[in-house]
Amino acid sequence: MTHQHLPETGRAPDEVLGDLKKFASDDPDYKDGRIWSLVYHINEAHDDFAAAAYRQYSSANGLNPAAFQSLKRMESEIISMVAGLLHGGPDTCGVVTAGGTESCLMAVKAYRDLARKKRHVTRPNMIIPATAHVAWFKAARYFDVRARLLPMDKDLNTDIRKLKRMINQNTVMVLGSAPEYPHGTIDPIAKMGALAAARDVPMHVDACVGGFILPFMEMNGTEFPDWDFRVPGVTSISADLHKYGYTAKGASTILYRNLDLLKSQMFVYQDWPGGVFASPALLGTRPGGAYAAAWAVLQKVGIDGYRALAAQTSEAVDILKAGIGDIEGLHVLGQPQGPLLAYGSTDSKVNIFAVADQLEKKGWGVNRVQNPNGIHAMVTAQHLAVAKQYLVDLAESVQTVRANPELAKTGGAATYGMMAHVPLRGMVKSKVLDVFAEMYRAGGGQLHLEEDKNPPLPERLMAKYVQWRAKRG
Ligand SMILES: Cc1ncc(COP(=O)(O)O)c(C=O)c1O
Repeated sequence: MTHQHLPETGRAPDEVLGDLKKFASDDPDYKDGRIWSLVYHINEAHDDFAAAAYRQYSSANGLNPAAFQSLKRMESEIISMVAGLLHGGPDTCGVVTAGGTESCLMAVKAYRDLARKKRHVTRPNMIIPATAHVAWFKAARYFDVRARLLPMDKDLNTDIRKLKRMINQNTVMVLGSAPEYPHGTIDPIAKMGALAAARDVPMHVDACVGGFILPFMEMNGTEFPDWDFRVPGVTSISADLHKYGYTAKGASTILYRNLDLLKSQMFVYQDWPGGVFASPALLGTRPGGAYAAAWAVLQKVGIDGYRALAAQTSEAVDILKAGIGDIEGLHVLGQPQGPLLAYGSTDSKVNIFAVADQLEKKGWGVNRVQNPNGIHAMVTAQHLAVAKQYLVDLAESVQTVRANPELAKTGGAATYGMMAHVPLRGMVKSKVLDVFAEMYRAGGGQLHLEEDKNPPLPERLMAKYVQWRAKRG
């Protein structure tokens, strides 16, 4: 039964909550560690605890620091706890945002405006690794800051040989990731920071993934090159709470080395008929529940809890890396150093996207990366319990694909393979946009609703590609 209209009369609460339960039956099975992204789950009791904290403040609004002093207190304490983890100094400051993307957007806006004010830059650019999270490309478009890319070298590390020459008078910021999303590599932050500082250009570190796990891995004895405020050139860091902080969704942080930098992120409009308005980040109303849940989870888990979670994650990562290395035809991509990794194929008979299809058949959620093609895993503590089974299923999947080469030409393998390699990238973009927009019709939302009139992306792309190839001869 669909619910396309607002009910004439309100429905019984139990019935409505029952509906919510039913809706979830088609969702990924994250509670058993069968997916490798999107969710950072410890157990039901942890979720219940975060939900209880969320509930207490679900109506509270963090828009205005004076209105709910409880929320401002929690925000200040969260920023202070994160500053401690990231080796901030006495002037470190920051804001709780609704997620990694908001944190990344804010850094770009802040540094664009700072360069405008201090150096009258009107055609801003920022230098970011090709592996930077897509949020940075979004920020570039939203704020009209040209993204100039540092390429990957043959080992998939960010190649910074040209960085010094690339920084020019219009460069508003340099970015490094700790770690980057596609392969889990930590960029050479210390060298990048030194080059940026030498030109007085700010440097942001995207630690949306690493911020709440690398410090605990380090406490457990793993050595990483410096990537946080210990690097003098680093002027800001984003660290997500709702990833490896295991807090409820809707919470990240952005920290700056000093208030002058943070001021550039803030918005004040003193002549609004609605009153003098000041806002620290992108949102107006800010969700009190997410902040309360974040504060409460940090308090409940504590350093020992996060160290234990990080230790389990490291163990799972080690098992996966070793196991993948032992499967003939597979290799880990690049040199992942933290909690996430991707792996690809070294054997032309093993199409990695066909392997992904086989894993999906076995009930695993799979994320694919491209150029080079691979399968991605954001490993959490929960995966320690399933890592060995995953490797058994992975080895079987590779065998199946090797024995059935035609699998590379069907299903997801055909679609993703083509999407990664269609030379007309503009065509891919416009087709993805068509299908994506279609999903946002009122009352729509699911691709298959339009299936008859409007075949889904794979078929449409395939048809276009075949046409293009035919024309090309
Ligand atoms: C390195 C990195 N930065 C930023 C983000 C964006 O975070 P969010 O999805 O919370 O907006 C992600 C998400 O995976 C990420 O991996």
